[in-house]
Amino acid sequence: MNIAMLGSGFIARFYATSLHAQRRIDRVTMVYSRNKDNAQRFAKDYGFQDFTDDMEVAINHSSVDVVVISLPNHLHEEAVAACAKAKKHVLCTKPLGRTAAEAKRMLDLVEEAGIFAGYLEDLCYTPKFLKSLESIKNGSLGRVLWTKSREAHPGPHSDWFWDKEKSGGGAMIDLACHCIEIGRNYIGKKVKPIEVMCWADTQVHPIEAEDHAIGLIKYANGAIGQFEVSWCFRGGMDLRDEVMGTEGTVWINNFLRTGFETFTTGGGDGYVAEKTEVNKGWLFPVGDEAHELGYPNMFTDMFSALEEKREPLETFYDGYVVNAILDAAYKSAETKLWEPVVFEDWRGEDGVTYEKHNASYDADHFLIKEEKLPNGDKKLILKHKISGELSQKVTQA
Ligand SMILES: NC(=O)c1ccc[n+]([C@@H]2O[C@H](COP(=O)([O-])OP(=O)(O)OC[C@H]3O[C@@H](n4cnc5c(N)ncnc54)[C@H](O)[C@@H]3O)[C@@H](O)[C@H]2O)c1
Repeated sequence: MNIAMLGSGFIARFYATSLHAQRRIDRVTMVYSRNKDNAQRFAKDYGFQDFTDDMEVAINHSSVDVVVISLPNHLHEEAVAACAKAKKHVLCTKPLGRTAAEAKRMLDLVEEAGIFAGYLEDLCYTPKFLKSLESIKNGSLGRVLWTKSREAHPGPHSDWFWDKEKSGGGAMIDLACHCIEIGRNYIGKKVKPIEVMCWADTQVHPIEAEDHAIGLIKYANGAIGQFEVSWCFRGGMDLRDEVMGTEGTVWINNFLRTGFETFTTGGGDGYVAEKTEVNKGWLFPVGDEAHELGYPNMFTDMFSALEEKREPLETFYDGYVVNAILDAAYKSAETKLWEPVVFEDWRGEDGVTYEKHNASYDADHFLIKEEKLPNGDKKLILKHKISGELSQKVTQA
């Protein structure tokens, strides 16, 4: 398929590099940038002819099948509206909107136009994420109780991110959108997020928005999703996920320490990996950065879904749910209370209750815990099913 790229900045280059790598067949053939020189440079770098400083021209160009939105957050809605009007399929980067209301309008636009729409949430396509999700869905962790996702780095690379009006917030809108969607996938997308408690502060930078935040999302089945985000973290880009279930645990380190460590006194071209702050001493490069960040898997799913007339793994509806959770997080950071997640449009399950299944030891007792002690004894902690009395049973080695 022929792709029009809207924007020629940081993420547009990551996307184009991924799209043109490994003999892939879908190609960027047109780019829009408000600065024509930047558009021309982008077209030259990726080996195609058509560039423009008029967004409508890029979208409406007859050769274009799919539009990829790589513009700052405040321009996503305008770009989606133009794609809907032109009836061109659209893939939009994260966050979908600055608020749930904005995201909902975008969702409505694509659904009314009947066009394919994908939410470019790359961190739900990393090799480690996909493998862990599959194993969790197959039951390897039992019931998921707690997910924790962390994205922290020394702050973004363009002025507009730091402007609350343009971006819609600070570290939370920028980074927690990833963490929330990672947690939602592990807990189950059909499970309703109920309420959010969040701490956010501006600890370091002279900006209006938060540069550090931690939040808890309570789900209808009793699971809890935690996000930790920061623009104050020093030492690179820290992308880590954890999942705790009744039968197991997953720990993922996506980026900073992937098992590739190198020492240099400072030669070479100096680029190590995204957001790395130094280029000498002991360094933690990333073998295939685009792949570790999920971009190739993401585009494979998007273009295959379009061809197969199915939904991609990450949809505009998912982007809307993430925005609804973020709205509640921003409100909680202000009120310091648990705030409900408000949905104008909920498409998951209703009436899911707190799931808890007690394991039986025998007809009269529940088994709370079983442990082998250092002296070789086996100890069982039991609870009587009727009286509630707690007892222990020791089997000597
Ligand atoms: N992992 C990810 O998925 C990921 C990573 C980084 C950025 N993003 C998202 O990608 C989008 C763009 O971020 P970026 O890092 O590429 O930013 P960037 O600043 O590097 O690039 C933005 C592009 O938009 C253009 N632009 C800026 N203001 C404009 C305006 N007023 N009118 C028209 N064009 C304008 C810039 O010239 C540039 O081409 C954001 O929504 C961001 O959240 C996603």
